Amino acid sequence: MHVENTEMDGYTLLENVSLNARNTLRVAARARWLAEVHDPQALPKLLATPALQQLPVLVLGEGSNVLFTTDYPGLVVQIATRGVEVRDTNNQTTQLHAAAGEHWDDLVRWSLSHGYPGLENLILIPGSVGAAPIQNIGAYGVEVAEYIHSVEAFDRQTEQAVELSGAACEFGYRDSCFKQQPDRWIVTAVNLNLLHEPGLHLEYAGLRTQLARMGVSQPAPYHIAEAVLQLRTRKLPDPTLIGNAGSFFKNPLLPTQQAHELQAEHPQIVLWPVAEECMKISAAWMIDACGFKGLREGDAGISNRHALVLVNHGKASGAELWALAQRVREGVQQRFGIWLEPEPRIL
Ligand code: FAD
Ligand code: EPU
Repeated sequence: MHVENTEMDGYTLLENVSLNARNTLRVAARARWLAEVHDPQALPKLLATPALQQLPVLVLGEGSNVLFTTDYPGLVVQIATRGVEVRDTNNQTTQLHAAAGEHWDDLVRWSLSHGYPGLENLILIPGSVGAAPIQNIGAYGVEVAEYIHSVEAFDRQTEQAVELSGAACEFGYRDSCFKQQPDRWIVTAVNLNLLHEPGLHLEYAGLRTQLARMGVSQPAPYHIAEAVLQLRTRKLPDPTLIGNAGSFFKNPLLPTQQAHELQAEHPQIVLWPVAEECMKISAAWMIDACGFKGLREGDAGISNRHALVLVNHGKASGAELWALAQRVREGVQQRFGIWLEPEPRIL
């Protein structure tokens, strides 16, 4: 039901809204209220609305990293602002300001086509700009934290608009202060620093091979973008064709000693160092080794293309997908003694 068209006030508020097309796992769920925010300055007024004041609040981007296991009983806020602009430029860097409601992939392509390289390894990651800092999106050897100058947000605790420096965001692997305190900040814009002559990131397994396959021996950023596009398209199921949220679990981090013990027990295991004292273990490999790849229970499944991706073959509910995820976790725990952490936000 459309309660009140308050676009003049900077937002549109809707009641009892379907979220089916607003999450890439294509799970059926409803929000009690949903506000599309066109002007972040309207957030204090929106959140102070008497009917909404006592309700929980969920900030939702494009829904590519959430699993709804039930209807959302509170207010879903979607930041709908658009726009990318050059804010500052000097001899070495250009600073881009991007509104939270922009598509991340559009920003990557815009920056490359305007001559600002740096984000090429992060091409084709679904979702909004505003969500990029939440889990510090990463792919093919690069994390967005490397480029974040600052994040503009509304702080629900102090009811102020704030600008957090990259350091204040406390970025880690699929982690940030925003992820740690999910009820505190509503990201409204991201400021990125792009070097005019960035170093290229070619270390990630398979990237050099893909470039060689393309006949490229001296890669430029646009070659890397093309190589990543091809790798991603080959490896990951397309959410427009089959519901999914990308990697469903994080790759666990283990102290180096413990990782080597695990490797002694399972010589084929895929792992790689991330620091002197710690190694990352491939969750996909462990799930695959347990025989879960391609498994299907009703419409809930594990992709047959990539063992880390949970898929919705049609009408799986969020609860069914979550039950399958639990089965996978228990299997991996039994075989490898590791309890996998989900990457998407479970609601
Ligand atoms: P949502 O799913 O809507 O939200 C994700 C989280 O961010 C939620 O906790 C939400 O509350 C919070 N949030 C969203 N917007 C805001 C905001 N403005 N302010 C405060 N909190 C907010 N991720 C990677 O890191 N690397 C990958 O390579 C990658 N590949 C993927 C491939 C596929 C096919 C899919 C479906 C997903 C992939 N992902 C990947 C996960 C996903 O794309 C990212 O996490 C993305 O940043 C989510 O954006 P979103 O707008 O859809 O966020
Ligand atoms: N593997 C298997 N079976 C499979 C798939 C992979 O054994 O079915 C093994 C292979 O040995 C492969 C290794 O797992 O070498 C790693 O696979 P991949 O390169 O696909 O990377 P990943 O660790 O599964 C991570 C991110 C992705 C990101 C890619 C590329 C996490 C949780 N996932 O996946 O991010 O795109 O690396 O950098 O860190 C996401 O977060 O949603 C996401 C897709």
